Amino acid sequence: MSLFLKVFLWFWGAMTVLILSLILILGTLPDEAPPRSTTISSILYRYGYPAVTTFLSGGDGGLRLFLQNTEKQTGVKVYLFDPECRARGLKEGTQAPDDLQALAQNTIDSMRTAEAGGSQLQISPLRLSASQPIVTNLGTFVVTGSVSRSLLAFRSINTRTKLLSLAFVFLTSGLFCYGLARYLAAPVGRIRQATQRLSSGDLSARVEPNHVPRGYDEIAHLAHDFDLMADRMQSLVTAQNRLLSDVSHELRSPLARMSLALELARRGDEAKKQNAIERISRESMRLDSLIGELLTLSRLENGLRAETLNNTVDMAAVVGGVEADAEFEAQNAGRGLKVTYEGPDQGVILRGDPELLHRAVENVTRNALRHTNDDSTVALELNTDGQEIVITVSDGGPGVPPDELESIFRPFYRVEGARDRPDGGTGTGLGLAIAQRAIAAHGGTISASNRPEGGLCVRLSLPKNRVLAKSEKSLVAA
Ligand SMILES: Nc1ncnc2c1ncn2[C@@H]1O[C@H](COP(=O)(O)OP(=O)(O)OP(=O)(O)O)[C@@H](O)[C@H]1O
Ligand SMILES: [Mg+2]
Repeated sequence: MSLFLKVFLWFWGAMTVLILSLILILGTLPDEAPPRSTTISSILYRYGYPAVTTFLSGGDGGLRLFLQNTEKQTGVKVYLFDPECRARGLKEGTQAPDDLQALAQNTIDSMRTAEAGGSQLQISPLRLSASQPIVTNLGTFVVTGSVSRSLLAFRSINTRTKLLSLAFVFLTSGLFCYGLARYLAAPVGRIRQATQRLSSGDLSARVEPNHVPRGYDEIAHLAHDFDLMADRMQSLVTAQNRLLSDVSHELRSPLARMSLALELARRGDEAKKQNAIERISRESMRLDSLIGELLTLSRLENGLRAETLNNTVDMAAVVGGVEADAEFEAQNAGRGLKVTYEGPDQGVILRGDPELLHRAVENVTRNALRHTNDDSTVALELNTDGQEIVITVSDGGPGVPPDELESIFRPFYRVEGARDRPDGGTGTGLGLAIAQRAIAAHGGTISASNRPEGGLCVRLSLPKNRVLAKSEKSLVAA
């Protein structure tokens, strides 16, 4: 059974029970007054004579009881006035309402003056009052009573009208429940449609655009979460697809060059053969390193095993290692590298993977050295003083266009024109992607920004919660 049908039937059922209980309760109201033909006059007509006889035989006390009973049975408070127009059978200190007193007086007067005096009816917006003269040999008594017009109206409704209004209430409640059930079930239906579209491969399926905003109820939250999930899935799948096509492309170029070199080797003379073999050897090394980097990337994407991240790393040693390798390269290229340390003398030791951290710092430093202008200096700084361990690498190169500052961390992303630089084309474009994932595996972040004075500044930060306490360090030293 659908949610819509369930909600609809439940609400309608509840409404029906409510209506039936109301009818039951109303059905137990005074039943002496037959709802169909009861009018105030007929009550007075029926109870008038007995009231007078009760008064004449039982006095005020008997009458009081009788009137109380009448009220209980009919719901109408009846008053009896004697020929002097005094209300009888009342409790000590109480009086008949003024309008009924006046009505009784009127009736007695009219009996005296007119020949055909009789019962009178007085209608005010809210109440209906009536009087009925009762002529006895002791004079003319008058019974009066009043009733609220709405109660009277309800009582005087006939069965057919009652059934009609019941049917009306029943249908209106059905309509209301239908609306309510639709209101509750429709968004769930939309979420279901979106889910079906998503599962059939349409990654752009979302609930929100055609979803009526409904504030902050659970279904709105569900729709919102669904859209978030779909966004995430779409970006993941897109990234995977892009990576796959990039990988194929990147593998294809060296392979194409290799087969070209093979062709040359087959046809050419000895010198050309030698050239071709060198070419093939370079390309296969390049392929090997590309595949190695891809494997590292995939290892990082799939999550590292906990024990790899549980080795001890001396950050100063990592930076020192990079410095040693890079300085030699820098000098050859006529560029400088300046390394500075800030922090406690003994340095910081943290839990992590020394190999991965070395790779990250090395890549960023090599990038800087590769892109910095000739005769300029690259600054590599390690700062362990603050809340985090921060490594910054700043160069004096062209920097990166602002809208590509985030893209350079994507696998195979290379800034347009970088390949035209003397050695810009040698990179695989995987270095920063690997660095980012390596730092993220240590709970840190990496970001790039352009320096106001020109050049790129890449900032790697690692949380201090990975730093080993003194006691742990001494254990490591031992
Ligand atoms: N310091 C920098 N100055 C200017 N552009 C940079 C700098 N560092 C990186 N880039 C740009 O970002 C791109 C991506 O860098 P990344 O390190 O990921 O790849 P790569 O250096 O080209 O190759 P690999 O590091 O795999 O050998 C580079 O191709 C370059 O266009
Ligand atoms: Mg690089």
